[in-house]
Amino acid sequence: MRTIVVDAVSLRYPDRDTAAVDQVSLTIEAGQTVAFVGENGSGKSTLATMIATLRTPTGGTIRYNGRPTDDWDTDALRARIAVVTQEYHKWPFTAATNIAIGDLDVGCEQDRIEAAAARAVAHNMINELPHGYDTLLDRTFAGGQDLSGGQWQRITAARGFLRDADLLIMDEPSSALDPRAEDALFQAIRDRQGHGITILITHRLANVRHADRIYVLHRGRLVEAGTHDDLLAGGGRYAELFTLQAAGYATPVSLPRQTATLG
Ligand SMILES: Nc1ncnc2c1ncn2[C@@H]1O[C@H](COP(=O)(O)OP(=O)(O)OP(=O)(O)O)[C@@H](O)[C@H]1O
Ligand SMILES: [Mg+2]
Repeated sequence: MRTIVVDAVSLRYPDRDTAAVDQVSLTIEAGQTVAFVGENGSGKSTLATMIATLRTPTGGTIRYNGRPTDDWDTDALRARIAVVTQEYHKWPFTAATNIAIGDLDVGCEQDRIEAAAARAVAHNMINELPHGYDTLLDRTFAGGQDLSGGQWQRITAARGFLRDADLLIMDEPSSALDPRAEDALFQAIRDRQGHGITILITHRLANVRHADRIYVLHRGRLVEAGTHDDLLAGGGRYAELFTLQAAGYATPVSLPRQTATLG
């Protein structure tokens, strides 16, 4: 994939007075990792689903390699795109099938499933399940197991790595992950930089510092664009949100002196 051009794209949901995405234009180049950031409801997921061809814009055009998405064979285009959505589904199948789902070509290629799981920090966790990759992830069946929220999120992220897709979209892939898993997941995402296009949506702004370009949405409009350093120096909305979040980590921690001994 050489370029993705988003040209004055809008989307107005039925029964809504204002556009969820309002005249957004941006260009993503081969090998770039870009981030969409902004407050809840600012239009990030809506924009990402249009880029993924899962929703049709009500205005504007999206072009892949110069060709409008309407001119592409939809299935051929979608085969080059992997999307990890914000809402994920727990399928009543095995761990392996939960990763391979939606990618019938992979079927039972265990090596690829395990490699994808490893990149999403799910491999060891799955191996610790009673039947490893063959464990049924539905407690309503005999022998079935359920997972924690963060464990499900790792499985979901693994789906995104299964194909080495030309475009990978990850919408809030780490909201339930512990710090170590989150760090490893973003390392795996960074490994794509330079060969595949990645669109990353996250509220944890420390994770977008390495993005080639960060796009800030506000009420459906694209209000800032640049690298982390550009945007921080610009002192705008991104700088405000980043500084607010960073302040939470900078607070000096005073450890309580040991005042009691147990037993
Ligand atoms: N299916 C839908 N039908 C109607 N309105 C919707 C629908 N999905 C989203 N919206 C509205 O569109 C706007 C943008 O939503 P969107 O999900 O794109 O925001 P977001 O930036 O991804 O937010 P978040 O950070 O909470 O995930 C919001 O006002 C939302 O209420
Ligand atoms: Mg969203």
